[in-house]
Amino acid sequence: MSVRRLAPAEDQPASFSFTEENERWIEKQIAKYPDGRQASAVIPMLWQAQKQHDGWLPQRAIEAVAARLGMPVIRVLEVATFYTMFNLEPVGRWFIQLCGTVPCHVKGSLDLKQVLLERIGDQQHVTADGNFSWLEVECLGACCNAPMLQINDDYYEDLTPDLLIKLLDDLAAGREVKPGPQNGRHASEPHDAVKTLQDPALFDGSLVGSWRKRFEQQDVKTPDEAKAAGEVVPPKAPEPAPAAAPTPQTEKQAATATGPNDPKPGRPDAGRPEHSAAADAPAQRAKSGEEPVAAAKQADASDASSKEGSETTGEPVPAPQSEKSEEPTPSRPSEGKPAAAADEPEASKAPRGRSKETE
Ligand code: FES
Repeated sequence: MSVRRLAPAEDQPASFSFTEENERWIEKQIAKYPDGRQASAVIPMLWQAQKQHDGWLPQRAIEAVAARLGMPVIRVLEVATFYTMFNLEPVGRWFIQLCGTVPCHVKGSLDLKQVLLERIGDQQHVTADGNFSWLEVECLGACCNAPMLQINDDYYEDLTPDLLIKLLDDLAAGREVKPGPQNGRHASEPHDAVKTLQDPALFDGSLVGSWRKRFEQQDVKTPDEAKAAGEVVPPKAPEPAPAAAPTPQTEKQAATATGPNDPKPGRPDAGRPEHSAAADAPAQRAKSGEEPVAAAKQADASDASSKEGSETTGEPVPAPQSEKSEEPTPSRPSEGKPAAAADEPEASKAPRGRSKETE
């Protein structure tokens, strides 16, 4: 992506303000958004400012949009510099965007580029008469009519160098030009003879319902016919319950709607990785043939002193730890060291690594 900067100071106008007509248009755009969301109108407003200002956005227009929407200027500048549809430097009366992506490239966009270089000059350079400037861009979404380019708001497709030269001559002379394919074909229909969808039956209605006839011809039995013929008939699937009609909502209600007050509870093992099943789920015990946990034991489950082991040895049993954490994480650095090491002065500490004796 190219670096996108504001035009140099000498090209910048001293001021910018929207025309009255555009002010009315802006009012309507802003009214489309809920209170507090007026910033959502930033792109339409920048676009309108660009249209008003000969096809490019000066710094003052960006500031005017920020002031109108109560946004920091930097936020509007971020939008203007991110979207390549906003021109930050002056453009010609006819601003040409040449597609240079692969389909157009293999169909000859390099030849068109040569024409533009010879007729107009370098990219982002406006001709002396102010008529033309051009820019190479990525795919414009008309690849089936490659090679193509966009002039202001219109596409001109199926171009050759000669067709492009004629197009530029016509524009410069003020003659009317026709957007779309320039080689005479209609839209993106085949270039020459039509080779597909030629069967007249496709268009005279005679094929309507033909898919149903196919099944009739295959002699598929109804359930009753199959029963009479002594065939096993699979049980009929239950009819699905009709879906409840959605409650009509206004747009505002839909925007502020929240979830139900009594959400369905999640499964006890929901969210657990497959290898780590619930520790003591009754269903799991039943599956593995174990006895269910007695009610009395369940009551003691959180009491560490009543755990298995303490009953036999009398030793206190530590609180259960997860597989990943054998020791509690210290909350202070000094708690992570043995008491002696924590109190030891820095200089007297043994160097890190294994000592010879331990090896
Ligand atoms: S590649 Fe040129 S329009 Fe898509």
